[in-house]
Amino acid sequence: MDSWMEVALLEALTGKGHSVAIDGQKVLLLRAADQVFAIGNQCTHQGAAFGKGVVRIAGSVRTVTCPAHGSIFNLQDGQGDAATGHEAGSCL
Ligand code: FES
Repeated sequence: MDSWMEVALLEALTGKGHSVAIDGQKVLLLRAADQVFAIGNQCTHQGAAFGKGVVRIAGSVRTVTCPAHGSIFNLQDGQGDAATGHEAGSCL
């Protein structure tokens, strides 16, 4: 993707997540104060949607925990936790 696309109003975004489709890809948008995070809304392990996962945005911690098996993904770079070795998610 090499251009900007309006997908949601900033006011509609919260820390609980807002799911959208961008070019056919499911994306979870999250907002914490003046920061917005976007991550592919499908776990790289077995494809569970992150929308029902636990989001932690406090201090330097910015993660979403997969609701299916508990893998933790960094919202800033998509990296998964080292304990499970699951591939990184896609942060946009
Ligand atoms: S589907 Fe996400 S950890 Fe298994």
